[in-house]
Amino acid sequence: MKKAWWKESVVYQIYPRSFKDSNGDGIGDLNGITGKLDYLKELGIDVIWLSPVYQSPNDDNGYDISDYRAIMEEFGTMEDYDRMLSEAHQRGIKIVMDLVVNHTSDEHHWFVESRKSKDNPYRDYYIWREGKNGKEPNNWGSCFSGPAWQYDETTEMYYLHLFSKKQPDLNWDNPKVRQEVFDMMNWWLDKGVDGFRMDVISLISKDPSFPDGVPGINGYASFNEPANGPHVHEYLQEMRRKVLDGRETLTVGECSGVTLEEAKKYARSDGRELNMVFQFEHMDVDADGANKWSDKKMDLRDLKEVLSRWQKGLQDVAWNSLFWENHDQPRSVSRFGEDGEYRELSAKMLATCLHMMQGTPYIYQGEELGMTNVPFRDIEDFRDLDSINAYHELVGQGVFTEAEMMKYLRYKSRDNARTPFQWNAERNAGFTEGTPWIMVNPNYREINAEEQMAREDSVFHYYQKLIRLRKEQEIIVYGTYDLLLPDDRELYVYTRALGAEKLLVACNFYGGTRTLPLPEGWCAQKMEVMIGNYEDAAAAEEICLRPYEAVVFRMRGEER
Ligand code: NOJ
Repeated sequence: MKKAWWKESVVYQIYPRSFKDSNGDGIGDLNGITGKLDYLKELGIDVIWLSPVYQSPNDDNGYDISDYRAIMEEFGTMEDYDRMLSEAHQRGIKIVMDLVVNHTSDEHHWFVESRKSKDNPYRDYYIWREGKNGKEPNNWGSCFSGPAWQYDETTEMYYLHLFSKKQPDLNWDNPKVRQEVFDMMNWWLDKGVDGFRMDVISLISKDPSFPDGVPGINGYASFNEPANGPHVHEYLQEMRRKVLDGRETLTVGECSGVTLEEAKKYARSDGRELNMVFQFEHMDVDADGANKWSDKKMDLRDLKEVLSRWQKGLQDVAWNSLFWENHDQPRSVSRFGEDGEYRELSAKMLATCLHMMQGTPYIYQGEELGMTNVPFRDIEDFRDLDSINAYHELVGQGVFTEAEMMKYLRYKSRDNARTPFQWNAERNAGFTEGTPWIMVNPNYREINAEEQMAREDSVFHYYQKLIRLRKEQEIIVYGTYDLLLPDDRELYVYTRALGAEKLLVACNFYGGTRTLPLPEGWCAQKMEVMIGNYEDAAAAEEICLRPYEAVVFRMRGEER
């Protein structure tokens, strides 16, 4: 397999609003990040993916950009940005920017112009359509509730917004739009940034016939309807030629609605488009059909089926990105692990399970501490427009009662991942001297970075060890993957193989004790423990896996 630095790297995602506030306004900022680079260096990560820091009216916390070449005032200045970039580079840490170009803010000057008149030079930068029988042009829904079309009185037409109405979709079929985006990307790369995470890039090309889709629980078709549209690969190949070719970048496409077959096109190893994609099938294992608002617990067999299909399917032809968390997902330890008695063990187990797979691992801020979901009291505690809109829409329509919806929000809301990073046991978890923009998880006195850095057996140190192992053991990066026991409801067991070396990765996803007979071809005498979340794990003819135990064995075989 072709080697690449981005295959050997570990990426850490920073949600700047909630990472570290340096000036007491209750909002995280760039200087806050710069001040914590040594923490990230100690953790051992190679790359930071920075959620958007561009100028934005913050309807969707920066995913609505009004100027791609300016920094959001609350986060600091361009000088602060440059200092952060250079300090990161001095420590050998790369910075990947969030590229949000499916849409802009409605306050971007392109849109301000576009909505003025039908013959404005920027009109065709966005997607305008006539209504149908006095209604929206089709039944697509916005990701954040309601229809995906907004009627605009000035020109009596509708514009498309797959996200909020303050996030109008750009018209990628217009070559001028593409050129604007490519110029802007080149501008950031010339500044020295190391790549891009591309926001909902699978949605940029729309079917010009705008067909209706299947309505969901609120009566609208999913915002994913246009995923993998007719020209998306053509546009990404153009981006490769005009921006990325000849540069050392990491590119990862957020591809909601992507299938394995499509992913092979986006992330093909011939390098014509992206290095890798984020797929979301494993984030749907606890959804209620197409509806994410539920508190259904996953069936481990589904999780194994999805992840193994991606592991096998991309082997040798493309590359996986590995993640449990990001700023749009609840905390993994509360979702796939156990956030009470076994919180630390299950956080380490989940980390082992993911980091031993083939692909580039992504850690979301706080995941390395085993940060948990948040005991939000009522709807007033939420800040995320997705959560707030869904609450009002679904309770208003009588789909769920208030109590049901609150239960689902506590389990699935994006705000679970957006509360301040827990630095220490002091006021506001050491995040800010002021009033934080969103509540702090009250468990910060027990769960915080300072405590974990001082304790050898903490989740933090376990992550540090996993990251270090990846640097030392090629098999973790490049070995092939094979699933064992696909039908077991409690154990996730797989092997990795490279040359004469093999790894056996055994993870117990539940709170009981299980035994695992050694698989064929494995010999207890030749096996050694590479890493595990219990101190005294050992190889045996029957491996005993205690509650939430994870253990990785290494074995050398005969060179064939
Ligand atoms: C995906 C981002 O991850 C999410 O946070 C955002 O709300 C939407 N795209 C819209 O940009």
